[in-house]
Amino acid sequence: MTSSEHPFGIDFGGTGIKGAPVDLETGDFAAERVRVRTPKPSTPTQVAAVFADLLAKFPASGAPVGVTVPGVVRHGVVHSAANIDRAWIGTDADALFTEATGRDVHVVNDADAAGLAEVAYGAARGRGGLVIVTTLGTGIGSALVHDGVLVPNAELGHLEIDGHDAESRAANSAREAENLTMKQWAERLTRYYRTLEKLFSPDLIVVGGGISKRSDEFLPLLELDTEIVPATLRNKAGVVGAALYATTTA
Ligand code: BGC
Repeated sequence: MTSSEHPFGIDFGGTGIKGAPVDLETGDFAAERVRVRTPKPSTPTQVAAVFADLLAKFPASGAPVGVTVPGVVRHGVVHSAANIDRAWIGTDADALFTEATGRDVHVVNDADAAGLAEVAYGAARGRGGLVIVTTLGTGIGSALVHDGVLVPNAELGHLEIDGHDAESRAANSAREAENLTMKQWAERLTRYYRTLEKLFSPDLIVVGGGISKRSDEFLPLLELDTEIVPATLRNKAGVVGAALYATTTA
């Protein structure tokens, strides 16, 4: 298969937009990844134009394209925007991006993409039962995957815990903003993940997001009954999961 026949994944984040064709046999990039800066403001139309430029850097292809969005996505329409421009709410992103790029585009929640990728190729590969993949970043993203099947849009970062939106206390951005020590942050994470345990009885919890590369500094401090492991695909998870999603929904 040439790289142009592989599905393409785009990871749309607050600072950068990353894209690459993905070899679904291996879960690796089939060509070198391209990263461009996220436009400011990052409204849907501005972002669509950047996607078109990014795809133009690769050979022409009819393969589907998956795109991550940090919000609720139902049937291609974005329904929430906790940490992105509010203009996204109500946008039919599948239609907008398909029109702007001339490709068959499918949009998926960012954490759901990471969850699909970790289950297919990463830390939760081959694991049955209920896997909860969480991403600790600006917000807290979550993916519920049961026996390999994704239940989309779980939004467990917005559980109300002790009267707070959970991500406002336990996301990596809260650790940074409040200058928390790893020990202090681990206490908040324990409270958060204990709530997930109580509500869902997962078989495995996976922790992703950029900070997961420092997981040895905080995961051993958590006091949980459930096995909890760092994500292994690191910053590839969004691109790989988006391409996988596009292929399974196309
Ligand atoms: C959003 C989720 C997203 C998560 C991580 C949350 O604030 O509501 O949709 O997955 O942040 O980006």
